[in-house]
Amino acid sequence: MIDKVKTADLKVGMYIHQIDTSWFKHPFLVNHFMIRSEKEIKKLNEAKIEWVHVDFEKSILEPKTTLEPKIQKIKPVPFVQEIEKSRQIYNKAEQQVHDLMEEARCGEKIDIPQLQELVGDMYGSILRNSNALVSLSRLKNYSNGIYYHSINVCLLCLAVGQKINLDPEEMASMGMGGLLHDIGLVKFPAHLLAIDYRPTKKEVEALKQHPRESVQILENSEGITDDAMAMVLNHHEKYNGGGYPQGLSGKNIGTFGFIIGIADFYDHITGKHHNHEATLPSEAIKMILQRSQTHFSPLYVAKFVECLGIYPIGSLIELNTKEIGIVMEIIQGEVVRPRVLLLTDAHGSPLKEKILIDLMNPAAEFQQKKIIRPLNPNSLGIDTEKYLSCYKG
Ligand SMILES: [Fe+2]
Ligand SMILES: [Fe+2]
Repeated sequence: MIDKVKTADLKVGMYIHQIDTSWFKHPFLVNHFMIRSEKEIKKLNEAKIEWVHVDFEKSILEPKTTLEPKIQKIKPVPFVQEIEKSRQIYNKAEQQVHDLMEEARCGEKIDIPQLQELVGDMYGSILRNSNALVSLSRLKNYSNGIYYHSINVCLLCLAVGQKINLDPEEMASMGMGGLLHDIGLVKFPAHLLAIDYRPTKKEVEALKQHPRESVQILENSEGITDDAMAMVLNHHEKYNGGGYPQGLSGKNIGTFGFIIGIADFYDHITGKHHNHEATLPSEAIKMILQRSQTHFSPLYVAKFVECLGIYPIGSLIELNTKEIGIVMEIIQGEVVRPRVLLLTDAHGSPLKEKILIDLMNPAAEFQQKKIIRPLNPNSLGIDTEKYLSCYKG
């Protein structure tokens, strides 16, 4: 059904069938298109176009607003209450992201509304307790490359987005860009992406076009916002202009590009990649801090570290008391005083009953303790993931 609608009443998701002015008097390249952002409505208003014809059959009217009513009722909950729900969300994401990559590989259109629902679920979980989903990203980041990487980058971006108080519309874009940023990789031969393959220089150069390939795939899908598109295109740009594919620098990369650049680097480097061993999470944070101002925007490096801590969830650490433990939860804003599961006593003897301590606890006994260094779980033969996967808070 096609109907005449006042420009003032337009909504994101409406499909413009015709603009009531000649093609060369309006600011768009085409006459028929889906409104993807408020900016496009603003452009129509600025061009003094009063009426347009909207095709309601081609319009998708919920996506940009679906997150709003859902998130209004959300209250923070303890980790223990959220972890099971976040596991279900992560499992659902695995399936959906797998399907979407396969669809893209076959040149099919991407089911954006279905993904928007998934982003809404992830956002809800982050709002209830961001540690729960973030802890799952530790468990899955090294296997099966692109699927888990897409989910992990998405949820890390949502965690930072929440930290900087993005509105629900921006969070929807943030999640969508995170999930889809590497979709262009499906256009490259699979062996180039294998964990144990080291690509040649020529192949590395070719792979640098994958953000453009991602954008090309998404251009054919309705309902992707400009912010999500910019995020996809700019996820490998660097603050100093040394990134790709466009070599953008400074604020031209944009908030969404800055955030995904850090999240992408973190998840990539903490997983096995192209014949490199995984970097410890705390080491990855150190590398991000060292690259602040060169590769990454200092402002968003600070926000990222606030979310993940100096010793991210899953890090094996030593306290000044010589006790060894695993970081289980980051208390909001407290980057060096997380909740730790103690595995050994001060003499290095394993504890029969593992003890959960909160370094934020005001009691002197806890305040005296502090983390002095990260340890490599592999060299100590400690399976941190075993503890993480059965942790209930
Ligand atoms: Fe990428
Ligand atoms: Fe990536």
